[in-house]
Amino acid sequence: MEINYQETSKDLLKRIDIHEKYGARNIDKWNVEVLDPQPGYKILDVGCGAGKQCFLYSDYTKGKADITGGDFSEELLEKARAAKIERGDKNVNFQFLDFNKPFAFPDNTFDFVSSAFAIYYAADLQFTFSEAHRVIKPGGSLFVTGPLPENKQMFYEIIKEATNQAIPPMPGSSRFKGDIFKTISSIFAKTELLTFENPLTFPEVAPFIDYVRASLSEDRKLWTSMFNGKEEYEAMIGKIEQVATRWFERDGKLVMTKVVGGILATK
Ligand SMILES: C[S@@+](CC[C@H](N)C(=O)[O-])C[C@H]1O[C@@H](n2cnc3c(N)ncnc32)[C@H](O)[C@@H]1O
Repeated sequence: MEINYQETSKDLLKRIDIHEKYGARNIDKWNVEVLDPQPGYKILDVGCGAGKQCFLYSDYTKGKADITGGDFSEELLEKARAAKIERGDKNVNFQFLDFNKPFAFPDNTFDFVSSAFAIYYAADLQFTFSEAHRVIKPGGSLFVTGPLPENKQMFYEIIKEATNQAIPPMPGSSRFKGDIFKTISSIFAKTELLTFENPLTFPEVAPFIDYVRASLSEDRKLWTSMFNGKEEYEAMIGKIEQVATRWFERDGKLVMTKVVGGILATK
């Protein structure tokens, strides 16, 4: 089955905002600690969305790295380009890139290629990671982050209790340690798995429900099996809110831990 992972920028930016507000740790900091981008580097971020990682690398290198962000969503590319103009980053460029198609770059171009919560949706892993390998310089790296199966356990448990249905975890999470790690390590010279844990503590129920709503477009195909149309959707959200409120009254807070894996590979 073809799954459409097209994000709306509103949902993606809402989740990023919630991570920043309620998370104990900063995933951006982890990202640059692992990659340590240097001035003069050529960098490609695949599935760049609104440009979060690209701007992070630009800030870290004080505008002295040559950074390309690629995504297949024109809506998100527009957001990224608007942010670039606002920030005045001349060294960052955004272009259309579909990671299921050949990458429009010569061999051995980039010091590193990164992809945050995106490339693991690839239809043909062997093809996509071979393309990433091809455009990385010898000795350069690939860094792919995504959810591990332990990710957001509370989110899944509350929804299961509210709907009496088990939501299948995001396909990316079950593939990450398995097929994706295996594929990357078969192509790259050296591959390791790193882990990042970030507990999000919600001081009330409302921001958790905002998070549930903002996850909808990401989980779209998985969720539509649970409701039919807007009315059923709102009824389901109502039930989720009731269960979340019970948990909140019992525990005094709601803690949802993001468990992120990072596959770091060297060409
Ligand atoms: C969860 S978002 C992550 C965005 C960004 N990396 C971040 O961390 O904010 C997933 C991204 O993957 C992009 N995406 C999904 N399928 C794609 C494809 N076939 N080619 C390129 N980008 C794709 C989506 O448009 C979206 O921007």
